[in-house]
Amino acid sequence: MKAVILVGGRATRLEPLTCNMPKAIVPVLNTPFLEHVIRHLSQHQIKDIILAQGHLAQPIEDYLGDGSQFGVRLYYSIEDTPLGTGGAVKNAERYLAETFLVLNGDIITDLDITTMIDFHRKRRAKITISLAPVDDPTSYGLIETDAGDRITRFLEKPTWSEVTTNMINAGTYIMEPDVLAQMPPKTRISFEREVFPQLLARGEPVYAYSSPAYWIDIGTPEKYLQLHRDLLSGKCKQYAPALGKKVLVGEQCDIHPTARIKGPVVIGANCSIGRRVKLIGPVVIGSGSTILEDSVIEESVIWRNARLGPGVSLKKSIVADNCLINAKSICEESVLGDNVTVTSGSKLKPGSRIEPRTTVEAER
Ligand code: GTP
Repeated sequence: MKAVILVGGRATRLEPLTCNMPKAIVPVLNTPFLEHVIRHLSQHQIKDIILAQGHLAQPIEDYLGDGSQFGVRLYYSIEDTPLGTGGAVKNAERYLAETFLVLNGDIITDLDITTMIDFHRKRRAKITISLAPVDDPTSYGLIETDAGDRITRFLEKPTWSEVTTNMINAGTYIMEPDVLAQMPPKTRISFEREVFPQLLARGEPVYAYSSPAYWIDIGTPEKYLQLHRDLLSGKCKQYAPALGKKVLVGEQCDIHPTARIKGPVVIGANCSIGRRVKLIGPVVIGSGSTILEDSVIEESVIWRNARLGPGVSLKKSIVADNCLINAKSICEESVLGDNVTVTSGSKLKPGSRIEPRTTVEAER
């Protein structure tokens, strides 16, 4: 079976991390997001993968190439203008002559795809949609089903008074190719808002597959941090073993003996951790980063080539590639785009979102 991964969105909610970096390859535990997804598909014997691209296509292709280094074959389907989730798959129709899989390209799940495919075939479904339970369904697409798992209603982003179920569309679909045949080409169209409700209205067999699988989308910085907390605490073992209090250190790192590190912590290759630095996990530090003396990093994710310190305090924050946070600055619950400089002694307001390539002066 082939799979289409949707990776062409603008990812505005994850800005400033995604101003220059496609959401599909933001690092997750120091590995580009899509690499995790591709390995999951490969474990379920899905080796032909089409990437439906638009916004920031080239960096994805540069990194993944033809897929051979991951044991899969990758094909690229590029839109000139964004065609929405449905239009993007229609645009890749030339690859899709048989039953196929579609994935939103911002979801990490350990869904048992093989069992979902069996489910789809046994029900002779036109489309099967994976469902996941969430605590707050109001920002998702809700799906109601009957006792036989057939979908009875779609409800996009309901208010609390409209909520009838906590099961939401989890962004993995199995589809028959004739679903595409009925769609107009080169037209912006949404699966969730248009195609799926239309199929339901026509009485087509549209099914939901519920499972206890781990599921998260990395649509926002908060979710991105949540994903790291979850992976490091072993909530999705397929992607990462539970680290507990352990510390994983990459090659060629220089960690000063007076540094105190409380896991779970992952440190990439070629990093330097200075005197009396405290790392209080969950913390992930990207390769080539330097943390200078007396800095304290807590519950944060730092990408590649950062330089922090001395005496910097970073808490519940995300720092993109090539940032410089100078002496005694304090960043809490902040998100820094790539190549940001924070001048010495600055204190960022909690909740700050700093655009790439900017310099933050003290007393911001
Ligand atoms: P926001 O701008 O933050 O809402 O993010 P997004 O653009 O990623 O949108 P959303 O989270 O709704 O998209 C879900 C998935 O579909 C993501 O993996 C997107 O990359 C993808 N996607 C959304 N719109 C398009 C599109 O027009 N074309 C393609 N190829 N993919 C899309």
